[in-house]
Amino acid sequence: MTTRTLGVIMNGVTGRMGHRQHLVRSVLAINEQGGVALGDGDRVLLRPILVGRSAARLRTLARSHGIDDWTASLAEALSDPAAEIYFDAQVTQARVPAVTQAIEAGRHVYVEKPTAEDFAGAMGLARLARDAGVKNGVVQDKLFLPGLRKLKRLIDGGFFGRVLSVRGEFGYWVFEGDWQEAQRPSWNYRAEDGGGIVLDMFPHWTYVLESLFGRVEAVTARAVTHIPERVDEAGKPYPATADDAAYGIFELDGGIIAQINSSWCTRVDRDELVEFQVDGTHGSAVAGLRECRVQHRAGTPKPVWNPDEPADHGFRAQWQRVPDNTVFDNGFKAQWEMFVRHVAEDTPFPHDFAAGARGVYVAEAGLRSSAEGRRIQLEPLDDHT
Ligand SMILES: NC(=O)c1ccc[n+]([C@@H]2O[C@H](COP(=O)([O-])OP(=O)(O)OC[C@H]3O[C@@H](n4cnc5c(N)ncnc54)[C@H](O)[C@@H]3O)[C@@H](O)[C@H]2O)c1
Repeated sequence: MTTRTLGVIMNGVTGRMGHRQHLVRSVLAINEQGGVALGDGDRVLLRPILVGRSAARLRTLARSHGIDDWTASLAEALSDPAAEIYFDAQVTQARVPAVTQAIEAGRHVYVEKPTAEDFAGAMGLARLARDAGVKNGVVQDKLFLPGLRKLKRLIDGGFFGRVLSVRGEFGYWVFEGDWQEAQRPSWNYRAEDGGGIVLDMFPHWTYVLESLFGRVEAVTARAVTHIPERVDEAGKPYPATADDAAYGIFELDGGIIAQINSSWCTRVDRDELVEFQVDGTHGSAVAGLRECRVQHRAGTPKPVWNPDEPADHGFRAQWQRVPDNTVFDNGFKAQWEMFVRHVAEDTPFPHDFAAGARGVYVAEAGLRSSAEGRRIQLEPLDDHT
C-alpha cells in the first residue's frame, strides 16, 4: 500500500461553509482518518493550501489548525504544481472569476453551490471545464444526508408504487439583526451581493428532485421579500433587496408534482429543518435531515371529515421509523472522498458543473416565473450545450 498526497487549494475558508464543513469536517477529518482509501488499497492524504483576501485571518486560521500553507494570492497558490485541486467556498459572486482562473491553470475544480449567480455564468464554467478536460464537481450535500439516503433506499426498493407528489418544507427564522444577531451572513439578503433564497435553495431542490424523482420540466414560483430591512454584522441597518422566501411548484418528468416552500421567515413546527413528504400509490414517507418515517397503504387510516368531533386518530403515531441499517458519515466529507477518488482513480462523479448549471437554470427560471407571474417550461439542458 502506498500513500500519496494531493494539494488542495481552498478559497473562502474563513467563511461559514469553507471553515466548518469543508476544512474541518471534510479535509482535516479525512487526514485524521488516514486519507481517502482507493480501490487498489492505496490512500490519498490532502494538503490544504488556504487562500483568501485577508492575510491576517488566514495566518490565524492556518495556525489554529497546524496548516503550513496559506497565501492571500490565488495566482501564487495556483503556481504550485502539486496543488492539483482548486476548491471554492467564497461568496457566490466571487466564484466565476476565481474558478475560471483555476481551470485556466489546469486544476481540477470542486465548488460550493450555486456554481454561478446566473445561468450564463454557470454554463460558461461547465463548458470551460469540459473543454479544458479538468475534473469538475459541485457540492450536493443534501443527497448525502441520512434522511434522503433512506428515502432513496425506499425508492430503489419500490416502496412507493407510483410516486404522485412531493411536498417540501424548508426554513427557519433568521433574526433581523436588530434585537438579536442574525445567524446568517448579511450578503444573503442583498440581491446586489449575490443573495436571495431562490438562488440559494433552488439549486439544492433541483439536484434532490432530479436525483430521486425526475428532471424538473417546469417551474412556477413566487419569490418575496417579507422583511424589507435588516441589520448587518456591523450593526448597521440595510435594505434587504433579495428574496427571503420562495413558494415553488416543480413539475417533474413522469408527471410528479413537487411543491417546496423555502423561507427565512418562518418558525419551525417540524421535527427537522427540512422535511419532504412523498406520496405514492403504495405508500408515503416523510424524510428529514436524519430521520425518515413511512406509512404503507396497508397501514393507512380512513379518516372521515367531521369538524364537530375531536380528531379520533393520532395521525403522527401511525407512521413507522425507517432504521439506519448503516453508519452515515458527514455528507460533505462523503462527497469530498468521492471527488478525491474521481480525481485519483477516475471513478464516476455525477455531481459535475453541468449538474450545477441545471440548478442555476431552475433558480433563474424560478425568479423569472415570479417576476412575470407565469409558469416557466424548461427544455432539457442538453439542447443548450
Ligand atoms: N451547501 C450548502 O448547504 C451551503 C450552505 C450555505 C452556503 N453555501 C454556499 O457557500 C458559499 C459561501 O457561503 P457562506 O455562508 O460560507 O458565506 P460566508 O459569508 O460565511 O463566507 C464567504 C467567504 O467568501 C469570502 N469572500 C470572497 N470574496 C468576498 C467578497 N467580495 N465579499 C465577502 N466575502 C468574500 C469571505 O472572506 C469568506 O471566506 C455561498 O456560495 C453559498 O451559496 C452552501
